[in-house]
Amino acid sequence: MVLTDEKLFKSQAHIAGKWVDAASGAVYPVTNPADGGLLGHVPDMDGEDAQRAVAAAESALPRWRSMTAAERAGLLMLWYQSILDHTEDLARIMTLEQGKPLSEARGEVKYGAAFLQWFAEEGKRVYGDIIPSPANDRRILAIKQPIGVAALITPWNFPLAMLTRKAGAALAAGCTVVAKPAEDTPLTALAFAELGQRVGIPAGVFNIITTRNPAPVGYAFTQSSAVRKLSFTGSTEVGKRLMADCAATVKRISLELGGNAPFIVFDDADLDEAVAGALASKYRNSGQTCICANRFLIQDGVYDAFAERLTAAVKRLRVGPGMEDSGQGPLINQAAIDKVDSLVADAIAKGARALCGGNRHALGGTFYEPTVLTDVNEGMACVQQEIFGPVAPLMRFHEEAEAVQLANDTAFGLAAYFYARDIGRIWRVSEALEYGMVGVNQGVISTEVAPFGGIKESGLGREGSKYGIDEYLEIKYLCMGGL
Ligand code: SIN
Repeated sequence: MVLTDEKLFKSQAHIAGKWVDAASGAVYPVTNPADGGLLGHVPDMDGEDAQRAVAAAESALPRWRSMTAAERAGLLMLWYQSILDHTEDLARIMTLEQGKPLSEARGEVKYGAAFLQWFAEEGKRVYGDIIPSPANDRRILAIKQPIGVAALITPWNFPLAMLTRKAGAALAAGCTVVAKPAEDTPLTALAFAELGQRVGIPAGVFNIITTRNPAPVGYAFTQSSAVRKLSFTGSTEVGKRLMADCAATVKRISLELGGNAPFIVFDDADLDEAVAGALASKYRNSGQTCICANRFLIQDGVYDAFAERLTAAVKRLRVGPGMEDSGQGPLINQAAIDKVDSLVADAIAKGARALCGGNRHALGGTFYEPTVLTDVNEGMACVQQEIFGPVAPLMRFHEEAEAVQLANDTAFGLAAYFYARDIGRIWRVSEALEYGMVGVNQGVISTEVAPFGGIKESGLGREGSKYGIDEYLEIKYLCMGGL
């Protein structure tokens, strides 16, 4: 791997300020999804390694939590700057292990760094309250304190930003961290840890363990009484299991789980904007984000025009390796492309038509053709399940209430999008959509300043924004009597 700073390429995990192997000595290969090539090996750790990392975080906790917020913020700001200074190397590592185009990877480095900057600032504003007392001889206060050791389990689709969104909040709040990056993409997280060590994050405050077998590690986190907080981004299925396992130690949890985002286009929408928003929302990261538009609900009067314009735009998307900065990179692995392929086959078998794409790409491997499907209906699996690939299924509707009903007819509630101009409709639909986030005439909604998170089976808690730090804080009530 060609890097300006070769020391950012790591093949060991990071525990108690040291670069370490698995206790068993086991390793596993990390590969490039664009060509299957070997990038390197990292430790294949287990539950015991996880306990070792938790112990390191536990012993670093008293000192870290007793530092002032400004002292912690100073270190986080140095880390933030160091990430930006190494943008190119981090982006290359990310593209090589994750597959996204280099320009998207550079964008993620900036997005990821922003969470450290944001939470460095928010950490200084963790205010409590003085509550009017019901008795003259008593004073009532509420203060906020760090929860303790936080275990963070992060996904492969945003190898840096999903880690910093959690770790920035946890560390700024005064928690220490044990992080487990996704098995497909550990290298970006390890490079991030290296930069943290360089700027002086104390030993044990931020630990990373790697594994290709996440279940025993996740279980060790959930069963540890030292871990007081678990934050997970990933599938709803795994999130539910972690939630059940956390009951054993009554941990605070944050879950950012699956979505089934509707993208609604009403007759009064600006169609050019709607097509641009659809492209950005659907095909970012080759359709591999939890908030990607998953099903398109298009009102009758603009259906044909929208379908035609979207198809023309999708046909212009370039597919190829992320290192060549093609607009559409490969999918993460074989299971991902098999799922996309079977969802498209199911839709076609049930009467959908491909306006473009609909097949594995001629490049082979895990490349899939950017696809638009028309004549889609609710009986098709692609509108019931999260596609996580570059496929846009289009459905027709007639009335506003019908669109809202279709949009809400899912167990998920992460993100929704709609395009309209009528102000009354904008308010009505914004309020009626049962989702944690709604993009109104806007296809890209992610930013560190806004609360990211879902309702229903899409998760619990919020990340980023002024609310994100509360996920790592406990409220303590002080009753001061005898006055
Ligand atoms: C996700 O896919 O989980 C996160 C997407 C984002 O932050 O934009």
